[in-house]
This record gives sequence, structure tokens and C-alpha cells, in this order.
Amino acid sequence: MNIVLIGYMGSGKSLLGSGLSSSLKLNYLDLDDYIENQEKKSISKIFKDQGEIYFRKKESLYLKEVLESHQNTIISLGGGTPCFAGNIEIITNKETVKSVYLQTSLEELTKRLFTERDKRPLIAHLETLDQLKDFIRKHLFERSFYYNQADYKVTTDQKNVAQIVEECKVALF
Ligand code: S3P
Repeated sequence: MNIVLIGYMGSGKSLLGSGLSSSLKLNYLDLDDYIENQEKKSISKIFKDQGEIYFRKKESLYLKEVLESHQNTIISLGGGTPCFAGNIEIITNKETVKSVYLQTSLEELTKRLFTERDKRPLIAHLETLDQLKDFIRKHLFERSFYYNQADYKVTTDQKNVAQIVEECKVALF
């Protein structure tokens, strides 16, 4: 069995993924890190040099590769992974995969992402908090269709990592 964590940028997928993996004594894999290792480039550089379409093709290929080659692993996806190339169907149709959507509010995402936006190619160009908030509002609305197909949903606002880990465990087992 693999557990896949889905959610918008800044929803805490990586932090939660490693927390959940130590709590459940399972392996942990971050799909963004896996892509960077395979491509020997940062995500930002891939977007810059080869563009988003190239990135999405590789992301889908590596998602399939990881789901085939790993067991008993918590896998954090990128924020866009479920929204392209039929990836959400791959995730939901696999009997050996359970998926959790980490749902974070627009306000919280805006606050968290504003200071970290330069590491994320899709939002690096946004200059003010209001611009970022407007972007996330629309983007999250479009992406929620995919995120909501996850097997379970756990909200993250006003909760610490330990609380969210516990809620994920209750949902999953
Ligand atoms: C993306 C999210 C990023 C990364 C890439 C694209 C997205 O991952 O995969 O920058 O489309 O939302 P995180 O959600 O881990 O930041």
C-alpha cells in the first residue's frame, strides 16, 4: 500500500509526509525531489529551460514510475500533479493507493506562500499579497475539482503537524 498526499502549494504536503512516515514507520518520498534527482535540475530550472509542458510530461511519467516501484511509502505530490495528464485517475484507480487531500484555506495559503514564492515558478512573478491571493483563489477553484477526488480530506488550518498526522491516521485506518 502507498499513501499519496495531495494539496495546493504550501498546504504542508512535505512536512506532513515526513511526519506521517515516521509515525507510521513507512518510507517517505517527495515527488518534486524525485523529479529533481532524475532530471538533475531544480523544478524552477526545468520550468525555465524546458517549460511547463515538458515538466508536466515528466511529472506524470515519474508519478507512474514511483507508484509501480514503491510499496509502503508515503508520497507527497506537487500541487499540480493531480490536475494534469489523467494523473488523478491513475491515483484513484489503483487499489494499492490511498489518497489524502490536505485542504488549507485561501488566507493561510496566501500568508505562507508570499515569502516562499520565488521558489515556485507559477507564482514567482506575483508582487503583492493581493495579486497572490487573487491568483490562488482562481487557481484553487480550478484545482479543487481534482483535489476533491482524493479518498480522504483533512483540513489543516489552526492545527499543528502532530494533530494533522493523527487526523490522517484516523482517516486512513
Ligand atoms: C506546482 C507545485 C510545486 C511543483 C511545481 C508546480 C504546481 O510543488 O511541483 O512548482 O503546479 O502547483 P509543491 O506543491 O510541492 O510546491
